[in-house]
Amino acid sequence: MKVLLAATVASLAFAAAASAQTVGFSQIGSESGWRAAETTLTKQQAEERGIDLKFSDAQQKQENQIAAIRAFVAQGVDAILLAPVVATGWDSALEEAKESDIPVILLDRQIDASDDLYMTAVGADSVHEGEVAGGWLVDTVDGKDCNVVELQGTTGSSVAIERKEGFEKAIADHPNVKIIRSQTGDFTRSGGKEVMESFIQAENGGENICALFAHNDDMAVGAIQAIKEAGLQPGKDILTVSIDGVPDYFKAMANGEANATVELTPNMAGPAFDALEAYWADGTMPQKFIQTDSKIYTQADDPEGEYERRKGLGY
Ligand code: AHR
Repeated sequence: MKVLLAATVASLAFAAAASAQTVGFSQIGSESGWRAAETTLTKQQAEERGIDLKFSDAQQKQENQIAAIRAFVAQGVDAILLAPVVATGWDSALEEAKESDIPVILLDRQIDASDDLYMTAVGADSVHEGEVAGGWLVDTVDGKDCNVVELQGTTGSSVAIERKEGFEKAIADHPNVKIIRSQTGDFTRSGGKEVMESFIQAENGGENICALFAHNDDMAVGAIQAIKEAGLQPGKDILTVSIDGVPDYFKAMANGEANATVELTPNMAGPAFDALEAYWADGTMPQKFIQTDSKIYTQADDPEGEYERRKGLGY
């Protein structure tokens, strides 16, 4: 029976592979440079592979993503890519996709749901990203007291929860490094600037702040602007460490105004389409988590060159 079922799945998948594939992509929105690059690369990857991509921009709203999933199911797409804005609340929409035998692949964020509701998830280990950022700060301050302000990503998103957890883990055994303020900047540049202004105001014009940990580079770039406007030198008076590796942050590192970033590749679609193509070819199921690298870059890692390599990539 099992053999028969596997053969049927494989032949159905192979039959699907014979014609052009249609994939629905529910994207969160365009809150950051990283997100814009992910969108650009997904569209490029689809075009190169002859995949018909149906793109839906949810403008940061989960209800728009759920409506998009339902519309993709009604259209009978061959697969769905979902970058979930928050971690919870996906069960019924994903059950509907499952009932219609439409594989779902999560991009760059995780969900709190049974893993049989999706085929695989492509992304970084976000706890590890936070740990790498925190580890860099611990090593850099080398035992000196350091008050940290934290700009969190979108409330309820897996990446904000996990990056925070990882950073806290990294500093846990180092009482000299303390988070003194923490608030969401919603992953946006304007949010980062606004919240950093309030941190600076509350902390003696920024005098009490030793370092900024931002959950993404866009918020850090906004915060760097706020630090400069307060008459302080970002990268020196206030150290900065964040996540993504967007060109503007590399520019700030090259100018000595930012210190470190943990790269997150915006090419989530490449591994996702590879997994789908293998499945369509012969029914091969991917592993449940396809992990991308989390390399840290500092001012010593040719930030000008990294900027040049990334500009024009859709960020
Ligand atoms: O989920 C990935 C995060 O979402 C990126 O770090 C951030 O820039 C984006 O908005």
